[in-house]
Amino acid sequence: MDTTITPKMLEELLNVGIALSSTRDLRELLTLILREARRFTSADAGTLYLVKGGVLRAEVAQCQTFVERLGQEQADSLFSSFSLPVNMKSIAGAAAFTREVVNIPDVQNVDVSCLFQYSPDFDRKNNYSTHSNLAVPMLDREQNVIGVLQLINAKYKNRVVPFDARKTRLAQALASQAGVAIRNTLLTASLREAHLETLQRLGVAAEWRDKETANHIIRVAKFSALIAEALGWSEEMADMVEYASPMHDVGKLGIPDSILHKPGKLDPDERTIMEKHTVIGANILSNAKNEVMQWSRMVALGHHEKWDGSGYPQGISGSDIPPICQIVALADVYDALSCKRVYKPAFPHEKVMAIIHEENGRHFAPQMVKAFAGVIDRIVAVRDEYADKEEDFAKFRDYANIGIE
Ligand code: C2E
Ligand code: SIN
Ligand code: SIN
Ligand code: FE
Ligand code: FE
Repeated sequence: MDTTITPKMLEELLNVGIALSSTRDLRELLTLILREARRFTSADAGTLYLVKGGVLRAEVAQCQTFVERLGQEQADSLFSSFSLPVNMKSIAGAAAFTREVVNIPDVQNVDVSCLFQYSPDFDRKNNYSTHSNLAVPMLDREQNVIGVLQLINAKYKNRVVPFDARKTRLAQALASQAGVAIRNTLLTASLREAHLETLQRLGVAAEWRDKETANHIIRVAKFSALIAEALGWSEEMADMVEYASPMHDVGKLGIPDSILHKPGKLDPDERTIMEKHTVIGANILSNAKNEVMQWSRMVALGHHEKWDGSGYPQGISGSDIPPICQIVALADVYDALSCKRVYKPAFPHEKVMAIIHEENGRHFAPQMVKAFAGVIDRIVAVRDEYADKEEDFAKFRDYANIGIE
């Protein structure tokens, strides 16, 4: 039997490796791994498992026969996630347990002395006939088992055949690339999450003094990302907007309580001091190495500029105002209007929209108002989902933990 991997295959494997390492979304990555593994081995079906909490959890499954029988959507809806223990009782479990490839030429003819069993329930329920079965453990760089790639029914000329040595080697080559890619994606997701939380918590610390809730920060960030999306900005840039906006009012840390918490209207001197929160924020965030922090600084400085030039601190107008600041300006005011503040009650939706349309081309950039109006249903949904509730104030106290005066 020919087990050599030809230069052509090697090149294909390399291409898949590149595609894997550039896919950041975990689900997309897992789907791609399984699809490519099935393509390389001519497998009709397969399941990809990840190790989670000590068990194998089925994350994606694909089956060509079902797609042909039922269409993609129906076939996808057949799959519901399930877990298997890491032990010798199942084929995938055995691959994870032994860290070795488990290759069964035909599960219908498994020797009864064999430790692991093939469960025929799935086949019976779905009128599917599983025969050849290949389970390959996926390891990360530190050789920890992070999952199992299971391939089912290798096809050759419309017949189901066992997985031969070449297919096994190809699946192993792919699984080792996949293991590293999955690990990297998980790590990146975790770092991104930590990063976003850090930004939120710092922003919350500032707003806490302002008697706002954590939800205010989250709402403004989500409104801003929705507007960026509506403008057709890339997903990466929309994420950046979401990450950069939580710090917009961090400069309020430098404003005296007597002004920040004043229940009524500010007098002109107090107003002048209040306006300094933009410059104070920009100073706190200045000289950052990190790109998110650089955008955050820009937002802190520019979120009270107005389209007609009557804003502060620089009084710049029109396209001189960075687009990201134009977005956050609108998101921030929408939130200030639709929620309660120490100095004002929450306004009803109609009044909020009337003010925003009135300020179109004065306070706000027309382009931003248009994008905002286009996603108003989703904006309102976010507002309701993250509405201020009493328990949020409690959560917020835990978060910030900087006392109540
Ligand atoms: P904030 O409460 O987050 O409000 C953000 C922005 O929303 C305000 O920026 C303003 O542009 C808009 N906004 C808020 N309430 C209204 C309103 O009733 N009508 C209209 N048309 N727009 C409104 P602004 O004015 O530059 O204020 C910046 C920050 O200064 C505010 O942040 C708040 O912390 C404070 N502040 C502003 N005015 C007062 C006030 O009269 N009393 C007190 N105690 N604080 C104030
Ligand atoms: C599938 O669900 O498409 C593959 C069949 C199996 O996991 O047994
Ligand atoms: C963008 O990159 O599209 C926006 C940049 C900016 O806010 O200046
Ligand atoms: Fe502000
Ligand atoms: Fe704010």
